[in-house]
Amino acid sequence: MKAHLITYGCQMNEYDTHLVQSQLVSLGADIVDGVDEADFVLINTCAVRGKPVDKVRSVLGELRKLKTQRPLVVGMMGCLAQLEEGQQMARKFEVDVLLGPGSLLDIGKALESNERFWGLQFKDELHGHIPPPPAGKLQAHLTIMRGCDHHCTYCIVPTTRGPQVSRSPDDILRELDMQLAAGVQEVTLLGQNVNAYGVDGGAKLAGYPSFADLLRLVGRSGVSRVKFTTSHPMNFTEDVAAAMAETPAVCEFVHLPVQSGSDRVLRRMAREYTREQYLSHIADIRRHLPHAVLATDIIVGFPGETEEDFQDTLSLYDEVGYDSAYMFIYSPRPGTPSYKHFADLPREVKTERLQRLIVKQKEWSARRNAAHVGSIQEVLIRGDAHSEGFLEGHTRGNHPTVVSRAIGADGPGVYRVRIGHATPHMMYGRVLGEGGQELPELPRLNPEAAAMSAPLQMA
Ligand code: SAH
Ligand code: SF4
Ligand code: F3S
Repeated sequence: MKAHLITYGCQMNEYDTHLVQSQLVSLGADIVDGVDEADFVLINTCAVRGKPVDKVRSVLGELRKLKTQRPLVVGMMGCLAQLEEGQQMARKFEVDVLLGPGSLLDIGKALESNERFWGLQFKDELHGHIPPPPAGKLQAHLTIMRGCDHHCTYCIVPTTRGPQVSRSPDDILRELDMQLAAGVQEVTLLGQNVNAYGVDGGAKLAGYPSFADLLRLVGRSGVSRVKFTTSHPMNFTEDVAAAMAETPAVCEFVHLPVQSGSDRVLRRMAREYTREQYLSHIADIRRHLPHAVLATDIIVGFPGETEEDFQDTLSLYDEVGYDSAYMFIYSPRPGTPSYKHFADLPREVKTERLQRLIVKQKEWSARRNAAHVGSIQEVLIRGDAHSEGFLEGHTRGNHPTVVSRAIGADGPGVYRVRIGHATPHMMYGRVLGEGGQELPELPRLNPEAAAMSAPLQMA
């Protein structure tokens, strides 16, 4: 069998794609790069906003057309597969295999079956399953929990991924050991709400560390860099900031989604914290980690959001001065409380607010990134950048970074880099040798790419 997998959505989905892909390989499948070569196409879907859902609908439409021309098995997994909306789509587009986020290990059974196979149960066995580490990669994801116990009124995730189930520290550390043995240097711990790790359905699990202690444990494993996502402010404790500060491997990067700066909106979102409480977490983080890099998620145009509420979001942005932000226009999701109970704001109001927020984000990201010009950063280089002669990677603070290919640094690895230039979205730098001197650049073939590094010479 030749299988091709397509992934939409978050890092949890990327992890799950890797998990299912490795199952397929162990069943004897070849993984191919394109739909054309494949006899099995599996789409890992996202349902968090309308856009990814529309995208899946159009891909399924194309695949159905293809099915009329040649033998092809089509599968759908992930969040959308768990929803009635996704199952209707699956029926309409003649999907053969449907696996919800809790049934991924049924992939073998699904492919053996001669009929349409739909797996929609949440099975805890998933946690004990350890996928082989990603081959030849310096970076890996590691799921520490699945599902979510919160009920933010806009969010479909608790419906698609079910209630929170933490993974045992043994399973986490076993998977980490395998990743380390395979050469992984940076691990990102994943969960919808990592700060609630070890407390499922409100009950503390015996033998499970707190999230702060899990960070300390993972930090002692020998991995060079530890990141984690996502943090819910409601469950954030000062001890997490303390654990970050005292554990050198844990990167000084915090992604703490605020969603809105207005208490009125936060209440309607059922976020369970106030603006003031959120800001006190930021103060804790800054006290323990003065150089912390801060990122957030913001939803603009939540139902009932007034201009004044939106101004509160803008002023909160200034108070925190985020390094980066993911900004979303509110997307009503069928099945969520806000969809049922609140009227959507006009499209123009939402897009106009997003534009203003993006201006704010760019100003701050430009300012924050510019402050790093001249500094030395530890950059994990993943591989080639788009432009010839350059490599791309990211810092401990998660800044996307581009460096020139240099003698002694022309492939993946962790390097010390002197930042020479920064834009709101990217930092540019030169790799340093042992003695702190810049390594000589490899000759570049592409004159356009050479022009791109011009600001470096000026800096
Ligand atoms: N568990 C994470 C995030 C899950 S979804 C957390 O709570 O932090 C990732 C982001 O998508 C959210 O932080 C939110 O900003 C955004 N999002 C979720 N539902 C949305 C919706 N209906 N419309 C627009 N954005 C949404
Ligand atoms: Fe959604 Fe809220 Fe859960 Fe995040 S914490 S997944 S936003 S319900
Ligand atoms: Fe999307 Fe599911 Fe992740 S809805 S954002 S893929 S948890």
